[in-house]
Amino acid sequence: MSDAVRKELQRQFNHELMAAHQYEALAWWCAHRTLPGFARFFRHQAAEEREHAARIGRHLLDRGVQPVMESVPAPRMDFASLLEVARHAQTLEAANSRGIQTAYEAAVTARDYPAQVLLHWFINEQVEEEAWTAEMVNRVEAATCAGALLDLDRHIERLLESDKSAGH
Ligand code: FEO
Repeated sequence: MSDAVRKELQRQFNHELMAAHQYEALAWWCAHRTLPGFARFFRHQAAEEREHAARIGRHLLDRGVQPVMESVPAPRMDFASLLEVARHAQTLEAANSRGIQTAYEAAVTARDYPAQVLLHWFINEQVEEEAWTAEMVNRVEAATCAGALLDLDRHIERLLESDKSAGH
C-alpha cells in the first residue's frame, strides 16, 4: 500500500471514530432534553460510525497495516436548540463525505484497486448519510411548536429509516 493511501485510510479511520464520539454526545444532549427518540437515533448512529471505522481498520489489517488510533477531540455539546443539533449532524456528514472523497482520490492516483473498492461502499453510504441529515434538518425546521417536536421525537427513527435501510 502506498504511503499516501495508508495515510488517508488512517485519517479516515480516526475520522469515523471522531464521528462516533460526536454522535454519542448528540445522544446525551437529546436525552437531557427528554427527546428519547432522537437520543436513540444518535446512539444508533454512533454505533454505525464505529462499524465504519472497523471496516477501514479491517481493510488495513488485511493488508498488513496496523490501524493507529489517535486522540479524539472533545465533541461539541453547546447547542441552543434541536435544530442546531440537526444542522451539526449535517455539517459532520458533509465533512465526512469530503474525507472519503479525498481518500478515494489518493486510491485512484495510486491505482490502489482494493482501496477503491472499499471506498466505493463509503461513497454510497455517504449519499444515505447526507440524505437523512437533510431530512432531519427539514423535519426539525417544520416542527415549530413543542407539541410538534414531541410528536417528531416519537417518530424520528421510523421517518429516517428509509434513508438508512439500503446500507444497513
Ligand atoms: Fe461514517 Fe456518518 O458516515
